[in-house]
Amino acid sequence: MSKKMWGGRFATETDALAAGFHSSISFDSRLYRVDIMGSMAHAKMLGAAGIISEADNRAIIAGLQGILDDIEAGKVEFNEHDEDIHMNIERLLTERIGEAGKRLHTGRSRNDQVALDVRMFLKDSCNSTDALLRELIDALCEISEDNLNTIMPAYTHLQKAQPTTLAHHMMAYAQMFYRDVLRFANAKLAADMMPLGSGALCATTFPLNRDMVASELGFSALTPNSMDAVADRDCVLDYIYACAVCAMHLSRLSEEIVLWSTGEFGFIRLSDAYSTGSSIMPQKKNPDMAELIRGKTGRVYGDLMALLTALKGLPLAYNKDMQEDKEALFDAHDTVSACLPVMTGMLKTADWRKDNMTKAAGLGFTNATDAADYLAKKGMPFRDAHEVVGKLVLYCEQSGKAIDALTLEDLQSLSPMFEEDVFDSISLEACVQRRAVFGGPNPKSVQKHIAIMKECLRK
Ligand code: ARG
Repeated sequence: MSKKMWGGRFATETDALAAGFHSSISFDSRLYRVDIMGSMAHAKMLGAAGIISEADNRAIIAGLQGILDDIEAGKVEFNEHDEDIHMNIERLLTERIGEAGKRLHTGRSRNDQVALDVRMFLKDSCNSTDALLRELIDALCEISEDNLNTIMPAYTHLQKAQPTTLAHHMMAYAQMFYRDVLRFANAKLAADMMPLGSGALCATTFPLNRDMVASELGFSALTPNSMDAVADRDCVLDYIYACAVCAMHLSRLSEEIVLWSTGEFGFIRLSDAYSTGSSIMPQKKNPDMAELIRGKTGRVYGDLMALLTALKGLPLAYNKDMQEDKEALFDAHDTVSACLPVMTGMLKTADWRKDNMTKAAGLGFTNATDAADYLAKKGMPFRDAHEVVGKLVLYCEQSGKAIDALTLEDLQSLSPMFEEDVFDSISLEACVQRRAVFGGPNPKSVQKHIAIMKECLRK
């Protein structure tokens, strides 16, 4: 076995068990691309600043490009002995180009190198999550545009509350996912500071041109304190937090889909392409995708908690505990990236059972608030109107009728303020139409929300 890169002061080999325990190559190998990009920029800068020769710079860049190509062609096997992706690539480089390869790490530490890699990975991840979220929001807007007038019950405490439309309900989720877009944009902003030049913790004696590296790699700022730069994983937390909130939103929507696809609700029929059957019960068609999305939320929360906890006791600056950031980051990223397109596909292919929704909205006295509003508009204090309609509901429950199925005489026996026009005020359509303030279910209000959402997405 070749010597460890840091082996100079060591008299004996690392214990095999300890070496395996300590190695991160099994998971950080996926940073190969950003690691190589970062090294190329570093080498280019070292050459431009005259810290290494132009010939060495050229050899390093060509060598790194060859390694990148070979990794992507599946020709490279990483080695646990070299611990992590950084030392694996440096070893490969030196094997391939000799002396020049050994100069790459001038003015750099793995501590600022890994901080750079993680920030680059994060910026890419924010971009890809953003794209997936936009597709989901697009799908929600499309469903909403098709269902501006599809009346359904809205719930509090999972009890029927007031009538709304499927569009209003779906645009609530669009708004939630748009906040996720903003949260990922924020995480990207937090990641957008270039840490190379921080060295192990107290920067470097080499006259590095940090600005050049930042602009080569597309960073808009430099980390301003080298100790913070190598000890900081806040941007990873920001990203996992954004993943956790997004997973929570997906989970809430999943829960509704599970509920709505039951025989009892019957608001949605999932496509066969997004449902599964039972190995014993021939009749079953289960909403497994929604359940799995709901279930996977737990692991994303776990990722957030794991990293928060790993960081809480760490003194400045770098500590090996921080190597634990990557599995949490990758898992949160992979989980949310897997859930988002499944949710989008499931929604786009679903069959909305509009008749059942509207039928359900007609049950459960969802227009009771409107009946009370009617009396209040006629001059009755709202609290009294609430009492009258409460009695009305009790009466309806006993006689098995809906409020709008009562006769005017029935209504007037509870309050003489009811007149013929009450029926126009408490039909389901009227209940939705009259909630015309911005933010409400009136189709024009929802249309306005959709237009604003589309405008936001253009940015
Ligand atoms: N694999 C390490 C990590 O992920 C890289 C940094 C190692 N630095 C060190 N001084 N051991 O954190």
